[in-house]
Amino acid sequence: MDLKEYLYGKIKFIEKALGRVLPARDIPEILSDGMRYSIFSGGKRIRPILLLASCKAVGGDERKALKAACAVELIHTYSLIHDDLPAMDNDDLRRGKPTLHKVVGEANAILAGDALLTLAFQILSEDKTLDLEKRILLISELGRASGASGMVGGQAADIEYEGKSADIKAVEYIHSHKTGSLITASCRMGGIAGDADRKSMNTLTKYGQNMGLAFQITDDILNITGDKTKTGKAIGSDIKKKKATYPAVLGIEKSRQKANECIETATKSISIFNNKGIVLKMIAESLLNRLS
Ligand code: IPE
Ligand code: IPE
Ligand code: MG
Ligand code: MG
Repeated sequence: MDLKEYLYGKIKFIEKALGRVLPARDIPEILSDGMRYSIFSGGKRIRPILLLASCKAVGGDERKALKAACAVELIHTYSLIHDDLPAMDNDDLRRGKPTLHKVVGEANAILAGDALLTLAFQILSEDKTLDLEKRILLISELGRASGASGMVGGQAADIEYEGKSADIKAVEYIHSHKTGSLITASCRMGGIAGDADRKSMNTLTKYGQNMGLAFQITDDILNITGDKTKTGKAIGSDIKKKKATYPAVLGIEKSRQKANECIETATKSISIFNNKGIVLKMIAESLLNRLS
């Protein structure tokens, strides 16, 4: 299977669905424009893709996971809009374009983020392809992963540690929460939509946790060694802001080693899915050499 071609097809599938869930009428134009600007500015869609692939790995029907896939991308995009605000990372470039607050101002960027966040839970609750119990399980999973005990908690720690010396335990907490939680939830939500049994859910959890950590470590490395035209983000900003990162604590080589270990653990864990887990395996391996 050609991974690049596969990813391209899934991105189109997900973006079409995102276009359908975003509100178009009866809302202030600046809000609607802001939401669309950030959603359609060219993300990799790795979380929704992992969600769909996890659903497939457990033998589920991808179409029943599509709203959940949109929901994780809405949460992710809101988190990026807020992450880039002057009060947080104060970044001007995202996905190769000016950050949303540079385009519509801070107030409207905050509100566009709020609207994407709430829309995620609305579309899960209204997903007619799933029974009510599954909808509640998905809402609970996403709420837990994106709130104070997950992504927002990680973001708070990330800000708290700015300029302070962090040890490996602190950085692992930050990374596994600000990034790992939503990636793990994406895999688990694919499992929920696909009717996974307990063993498969545990496997998806382990895979997601390792992928989440590896993903943020490689993000840290790219912030030092990457190419702005490929990442679509400023390079060197973590060092400038004295962020608590893996390279800051371990150096680049050891960070790379750690990311590779996580990828290996993730890959091994999904062997129980046999051929159905091929996409999860290929995505994990592609993290090793990602440039964006
Ligand atoms: C960037 O995530 C922020 C992190 C949590 C590392 P992605 O690298 O998935 O960003 P997009 O969605 O492709 O722009
Ligand atoms: C982003 O982490 C995490 C979230 C948005 C939840 P970073 O601040 O390290 O990611 P980039 O480099 O801005 O994408
Ligand atoms: Mg940040
Ligand atoms: Mg940032």
